[in-house]
Amino acid sequence: MIIRPYNKKDEIGWVRCRVLAFLDTSYFDNVLTKKEMYENPAIELVAEVNGIIVGLLDIEYERKEKTVCSRGNGLGGMIWHIAIHPDYRRQGIGGALLCEAERQARKLGLNRLEAWTRDDEWVNKWYEKQQFSKVDSYYQVFIEDAEEFKGKLESCVPKLYPVTTFAHYVGEDVDFITSAFKRVHECSCYEKKLQA
Ligand SMILES: CC(C)(COP(=O)(O)OP(=O)(O)OC[C@H]1O[C@@H](n2cnc3c(N)ncnc32)[C@H](O)[C@@H]1OP(=O)(O)O)[C@@H](O)C(=O)NCCC(=O)NCCS
Repeated sequence: MIIRPYNKKDEIGWVRCRVLAFLDTSYFDNVLTKKEMYENPAIELVAEVNGIIVGLLDIEYERKEKTVCSRGNGLGGMIWHIAIHPDYRRQGIGGALLCEAERQARKLGLNRLEAWTRDDEWVNKWYEKQQFSKVDSYYQVFIEDAEEFKGKLESCVPKLYPVTTFAHYVGEDVDFITSAFKRVHECSCYEKKLQA
């Protein structure tokens, strides 16, 4: 297994690895058909085994405070994508990608990494195992059924009827939200301080 910078020629392998990695997670329908590119500079790494992309990690980072991350002081990096091909999980590849990214991040003068993830327990555990701490959370609500809209959400455009919706809930009445809608995910913010 080698860890190296992402190259434009890796794009198909990158997209395939990400789709497969998300299939058994709460991000199963978050499918990209192209690799995401960033406004700011990014650490973009892949893990390769026998010419196949089996892991990926993208961290967009700040050159100016508070341009990418949602919190903290000084310069930080945001993990937008981390994914390991399901046949290669629990072999230390995610940890190795993160370790190389942290080495590069320190060299760039970043003092922390931020990541947001949904409520897949094992993924949250992975962040904790990598010394990230949970610092915040909110709820993501998918409304996919006409019945769920009734009395809760409506369009103000005549004859326009929402069929599905994706919404953020940042309030306190979590019991109401989780009982009113079938698909609700807690989305947690993890932060790791980097030692200089
Ligand atoms: C989470 C993820 C990045 C971890 O990468 P990885 O290479 O499998 O993890 P590592 O080998 O570095 O670390 C293994 C540890 O992660 C946790 N872990 C990983 N996969 C797990 C699973 N299927 N079940 C339980 N724990 C798991 C465990 O703590 C494990 O340690 P252990 O094997 O000693 O119990 C990877 O499994 C993945 O791609 N998940 C799906 C994509 C995703 O949800 N990405 C984050 C979206 S923000």
